[in-house]
Amino acid sequence: MNPIAEALNSQLANTVVARTLSLFGKRIYFPKGIVAQATEAKKSATTFNATVGIALADGEPMILPTIQDNLPRLSPAEAIDYAPPGGDNRLRALWKEEMLRKNPGLVDSKVSVPAVVPGITAGISLSADLFVDEGDTVVFSELCWDNYPLIFETRAQARCFTHPVFTKQGGLNIDAIALTLRTNARNNKAVLVLNFPHNPTGYAPTKQEAEALASALVSLAEEGLNLVVLCDDAYFGLFYEEEVYRQSIFALLHNAHENLLAIKIDGATKEDYVWGFRVGFLTFGAFGLQESHFEALNQKVLGAIRTTISSSSRVGQTLLYKELSSLVYHGIKGKYARVLEERFKTVKKILETRETGKTLKALPFNSGYFMTFELSKGSSEDLRRHLLKNEGIGTISLQDRYLRLAYSSVDNRDLKALFAAVFQAADVLAEQ
Ligand SMILES: Cc1ncc(COP(=O)(O)O)c(C=O)c1O
Repeated sequence: MNPIAEALNSQLANTVVARTLSLFGKRIYFPKGIVAQATEAKKSATTFNATVGIALADGEPMILPTIQDNLPRLSPAEAIDYAPPGGDNRLRALWKEEMLRKNPGLVDSKVSVPAVVPGITAGISLSADLFVDEGDTVVFSELCWDNYPLIFETRAQARCFTHPVFTKQGGLNIDAIALTLRTNARNNKAVLVLNFPHNPTGYAPTKQEAEALASALVSLAEEGLNLVVLCDDAYFGLFYEEEVYRQSIFALLHNAHENLLAIKIDGATKEDYVWGFRVGFLTFGAFGLQESHFEALNQKVLGAIRTTISSSSRVGQTLLYKELSSLVYHGIKGKYARVLEERFKTVKKILETRETGKTLKALPFNSGYFMTFELSKGSSEDLRRHLLKNEGIGTISLQDRYLRLAYSSVDNRDLKALFAAVFQAADVLAEQ
């Protein structure tokens, strides 16, 4: 059991709570990870707060104008009526249409109609409910969003295995993904979680890497492994470099092999700058699945939704529908993406020209919200605390060796000062 859960349980010892908690209730805990560090930064990061995965401009969340304009104009039915458990049908159809537009490699009849879930987290957790039993094998990257171990290990009680993100040359470590799956699969089954653009590194595969990864996974399926691939596309669309594969890896997997079930978990959260709406989507695809299979699968999803969250936010779905069907949608969204791309370019330029901070190595990044430094010496938790206490700067430390910076939440004009402070603090700590 995780030590934090153990500590909580001993705090609760000899109470009615301890006597009545379920096994899951005993295992669950709130990690001292990203959310806890971000909460700390909210109090003390008075200079820059580069912790949270949202996009800010002048300290305010970047809201799309159509969302803002529609807020006071909704009818009661649009604002407060229950939404169907699988989501508003018009929105489901429109999200699919947009998905096909953004991913030309998708075959319309080979993917299910997306079901609405309250955010990507819920989509991942619900997929775990449906496809992960206690003791099943789940594989994800060593550096990953800290909710994966909590969902798959603590909640679903899977056996989790990790693979390094990068090769020594700095490319995606496809061999490690395939090897981790091959060596640890159990009962001819394994679940793989892919997340591109990646949290925390901000890396997305090149076209060549995406194709090589897909063919490695198809080879495993051909060997007889039943593979479920969860594509966490939280940061989809924020691709900044020419050679990056600009579709979801789901496009290469949804119709690839009869032993390979691909699940696309995406949402409006980051794609449409509505973090608190809680509107995400679950979409399935596998070679050989027909309309009748998708309908049966949809019924399972509805059952899982019905017994947990019942249905997702109606107002969020209504506003998202209006946003997606608005004539100005693509233009405005492109503008917002360019704000983030400009910040990415600024960070790249800073890293090219810096002369200090020799203990920090930037991991490869080309997309998304984040970049991550690896420390060759010292503790990233010490560095995080130092930055927070002495500079009022909020960052995220991971595994005591990595420091994640969300440049998405710092204005372009402030990035130089942010990185200068990080380099300087790293130097000060390295000399101690
Ligand atoms: C990789 C990844 N997946 C999912 C999420 C959460 O998405 P949602 O807020 O829609 O649950 C995040 C970020 O917070 C993330 O970084």
